[in-house]
Amino acid sequence: MSSQAQIRRLTALDIRRRKAAEPIVSLTAYTAPMAALADRHCDFLLVGDSLGMVVHGLDSTVPVTLEMMILHGQAVMRGSRRALVVIDMPFGSYEESPEQAFRNAARIMQETGCGAVKLEGGQRMAATIRFLVERGIPVMAHVGLTPQAVNVLGGFKAQGRERAEWPAITADAEAVAAAGAFAVVLEAVAEPLAAGITAKVAIPTIGIGASAACDGQVLVLDDMLGLTGRVPKFVKLFGNLAEDVDKAVAGYAAEVRARRFPGPEHVYTVKES
Ligand code: KIV
Repeated sequence: MSSQAQIRRLTALDIRRRKAAEPIVSLTAYTAPMAALADRHCDFLLVGDSLGMVVHGLDSTVPVTLEMMILHGQAVMRGSRRALVVIDMPFGSYEESPEQAFRNAARIMQETGCGAVKLEGGQRMAATIRFLVERGIPVMAHVGLTPQAVNVLGGFKAQGRERAEWPAITADAEAVAAAGAFAVVLEAVAEPLAAGITAKVAIPTIGIGASAACDGQVLVLDDMLGLTGRVPKFVKLFGNLAEDVDKAVAGYAAEVRARRFPGPEHVYTVKES
């Protein structure tokens, strides 16, 4: 048996069972090579619709399409072997009705082979989450700051910084857990609120800008590698790849201009027969 055959991909159920246990590690991935690098270290890889901003230069996630998510999802599945792959349902692909959500979630799963989908929204999406889970689609929920609602929220703003907001956000997390979501992303919420929700719900909470009180963490990989040029307050730079890329490209350009590249070791010679 080859070593490749021995690797079992984690499932939504494996993640669900990690509640209040070993912290869950996750990063976004949008391409096969990055997925291959992150796969060894992550429990799940999120093909986030943040790819619209990070990869495609859009201002928000709102214009991201189902086709974009499927294309990047296929690449991430090809690049990874062990991590559960979760793919975001893009804006407009699930909000209309549970039936619309099922049709598009089923398409994502059939065309990519991923293990779960993620969608934004709390109480208002609970019926849809239940509909999907009852029909075989594992769902990760996403509450707090929901970037697809940026035009209603008036910007990418932290949520729950006022105590008066806490009951609604807590009710959102409780509603998606009761509906059958296997985990819930808490984005950009104040620490005591994240801690309170984590203590209350039976499913793992995955924080992004929601403190270490959560059961796991997710970050946009390109953000923490210093590739995106914008670093939200909650992101720690674990590398500075923008600097490395700049140095490498400047070195290449200088050698080309000086006619030092390609040098003798990088050219093909004629084979004399
Ligand atoms: O799209 C994304 O990358 C996400 C994370 C920010 C959680 O949803």
